[in-house]
Amino acid sequence: VGTTITLGLAAMARGLADRTGLVTALPHFRDLPLPEPAQFVIGGHDIRQTTFAASADEFRQNSGVFGAEWIDACRDELAAASDRVRPAPQLGLGSAVLRLANWNEPKPARSVRQAIDLIAADLAAFVAAQSIDHLIVLNVASTEPVFRLGPIHKEWDVLEPALADAGGETLPSSAFFALAAIGAGHTYINFTPSLGASFPACWELAQTTGALHAGKDGKTGETLMKTVLAPMFAYRNLKVMSWVGHNIFGNRDGLVLDDPINKASKVETKDRVITEILGYKPSSLVTIEYLPDMGDWKTAWDHIHFQGFLGSKMTLQFTWQGCDSLLAAPLAIDLARLADLEKRRGGKGPMRHLACFFKSPEGVDENDFFKQFDRLVDHVASEHQP
Ligand SMILES: NC(=O)c1ccc[n+]([C@@H]2O[C@H](COP(=O)([O-])OP(=O)(O)OC[C@H]3O[C@@H](n4cnc5c(N)ncnc54)[C@H](O)[C@@H]3O)[C@@H](O)[C@H]2O)c1
Repeated sequence: VGTTITLGLAAMARGLADRTGLVTALPHFRDLPLPEPAQFVIGGHDIRQTTFAASADEFRQNSGVFGAEWIDACRDELAAASDRVRPAPQLGLGSAVLRLANWNEPKPARSVRQAIDLIAADLAAFVAAQSIDHLIVLNVASTEPVFRLGPIHKEWDVLEPALADAGGETLPSSAFFALAAIGAGHTYINFTPSLGASFPACWELAQTTGALHAGKDGKTGETLMKTVLAPMFAYRNLKVMSWVGHNIFGNRDGLVLDDPINKASKVETKDRVITEILGYKPSSLVTIEYLPDMGDWKTAWDHIHFQGFLGSKMTLQFTWQGCDSLLAAPLAIDLARLADLEKRRGGKGPMRHLACFFKSPEGVDENDFFKQFDRLVDHVASEHQP
């Protein structure tokens, strides 16, 4: 996803690619003062040492996406962005992700506090070197195992002093980045199902620093379909008895999700939306299986068994065949553009109006895609300057 964002911004800035797939290119948003692709400067962290160009080439070969001429035309931008990627602390990763790590950190972090400080120092150096006026930290790292919160995560005053002694069990890596960003007042957006900023102590910190934040888990494919179709069953008073979704795909995200404890995070966010929209829980089954030959192409087959008038039982099935990163990258760019608008308007704290982009929108109970979209349109159209 990070590679596709980087290539996509460069290709749009050069006028090679149009804006199909960008929500912010719709007429509802077109006249807003949103940042243009050429205004973004990409940097980042990774635990693997690689380059955006190598990743784009690999992706093109394995998945047959983007033309070679686009990669060639954008090599300078890809190389410059790769130079701005720093090694991430290898703490709080979980075993499936740790197996990917091949980039030695110059100063390994021994505690959560040290990891946060190292990330914060990298962020500050990036802002200074590139004269960044609004830093947006976007989590597009591999999915972590489900993280269970405890009493220590409730209040910042309790959590903060404990971080100095804490190892990678107290918080996962995604939360280190959230705390480093939010602690310095930068914007944080979690495109993954990992914990990120989703705990009370972090929200409290955001209140203090005024940082904007949003999450979690980009709604790009099968779950998008669920939140479009479930309202239809609800509005026609058709009773959904069971909803089964089988997903197969073969990218690196799939490799990490092949580990049952990492997969549980994804299944949790994918499964919840139907119950929340319908107001009752049908029988459900979600599977996510890794098949390397599929590359970035994801096939989701859903079987919905429902009951209509006079007890008649009927079925809807659909097959979604989408290219994962090509669906995700434009939404990530939309999120960054809309977060920047919010910042210019003086916004602070959770960006609930961005719910339509997420499988588990934070601080929002509404999962109906159309209501979420209306909320976004209403929000950006309002002259409200918080
Ligand atoms: N349609 C989509 O592609 C989609 C939709 C919703 C959510 N997501 C989520 O976006 C994330 C990225 O997906 P992807 O296909 O680009 O995966 P990917 O495996 O291609 O990329 C993830 C990158 O993160 C790096 N990484 C892992 N843990 C890290 C850490 N703690 N710190 C720094 N770097 C770390 C990995 O080395 C890898 O380069 C996944 O969590 C995925 O579930 C993707």
